[in-house]
Amino acid sequence: MNRVDSSPPILVTGAAGRHGGTGRRIVELLRQKGRPVRAMVRKMDERCADLVQLGAEVVVADYMDYEALCLALSGVKRAYFCFPVNVGITEATVNFVAAAKASCLEYVVNNSMPIAHPASPSPLARAQWMSEQILNWSGLRCLHVKGAFFFENILLFSEDTIVDRGVIENGFGDAPLLWVAADDVASVVAYELEQADPAQNPAILVTGGELLAFPQIAERISSRLGRKVGYRNTGDDEEAWKKLMSLNPRIPPAMRDHLVGMSRMLKSVRDPRQPGNTFTPLLGKPAVSFDDFLDTHRARLLRAMEVSSQGHNREVHPTQERKTQNESE
Ligand SMILES: NC(=O)c1ccc[n+]([C@@H]2O[C@H](COP(=O)([O-])OP(=O)(O)OC[C@H]3O[C@@H](n4cnc5c(N)ncnc54)[C@H](OP(=O)(O)O)[C@@H]3O)[C@@H](O)[C@H]2O)c1
Repeated sequence: MNRVDSSPPILVTGAAGRHGGTGRRIVELLRQKGRPVRAMVRKMDERCADLVQLGAEVVVADYMDYEALCLALSGVKRAYFCFPVNVGITEATVNFVAAAKASCLEYVVNNSMPIAHPASPSPLARAQWMSEQILNWSGLRCLHVKGAFFFENILLFSEDTIVDRGVIENGFGDAPLLWVAADDVASVVAYELEQADPAQNPAILVTGGELLAFPQIAERISSRLGRKVGYRNTGDDEEAWKKLMSLNPRIPPAMRDHLVGMSRMLKSVRDPRQPGNTFTPLLGKPAVSFDDFLDTHRARLLRAMEVSSQGHNREVHPTQERKTQNESE
């Protein structure tokens, strides 16, 4: 670690991390290799101390602030572009590309999603496709990294009901989903950002190879935690599912529409030829499995279940847990 490297800093946007936290993990991986990193955050808060501790230069910039983006990109040749699963990605991409073109950026690795498509039933997947188009037209060399469904979603969407009532409730039903750990997506991005000759492929799919429907997810949680966790399908009533999601402050309205659109798509297109593990062949190490992921969170979930069964309030959030997870590595 900390080998002296006088190359230009790599800009990592979304560095504080909230949902998958890929940005924070990419900063960590690049710093472990001794790379100079500029970590872009939307605001200064306690997460920035962690980035400074990792040896990153922290800059504050909002995607909607062109001048701030120009400063963040100053002297940067390579960057990671990461917008959250929320509205605003097209405006953010236009601003980012304009600022990149006004600076010396050469290569951008973009965090996108496999279902980015102009005809997707999800408004956010359509917006993500537009963002990809803007980057493709920009003249910058660009790689779209498309991770499968993050394991982290399970905690973001259902940790409270798993802990308090032993149940996962959503409208995905028994549609199989391809999964991956957000940390594995981060590993691929960090690897690509470091390549002497950036990837020529316009896009890579990153999956750990596990194809699991939610009823199986509930079974695996039950067996790993030794506590019964069931699955309740909210069925075809999309409004009922959205209403349920509105009770969870971690799921903004645009993400609710995205999940409903995604489940609609999964129900209509059941492709049995889903690709397997794409992570291991690329990085030559095993992908994080769902059981590995559960083991990382097992002790905390069991503690939370204990507290909940005693009728006490919990103060737990998966993104706070990410810190604990990474600290314990
Ligand atoms: N979840 C999945 O299953 C999945 C699957 C495939 C692909 N993806 C892709 O993954 C991407 C998200 O990655 P992630 O989960 O690693 O992200 P994340 O943890 O949610 O981090 C996104 C970061 O962006 C920051 N941010 C939000 N608005 C901003 C703005 N206007 N200007 C500057 N920064 C802003 C946030 O800051 P604050 O924390 O301060 O708000 C946050 O730290 C999405 O593009 C999605 O398409 C996700």
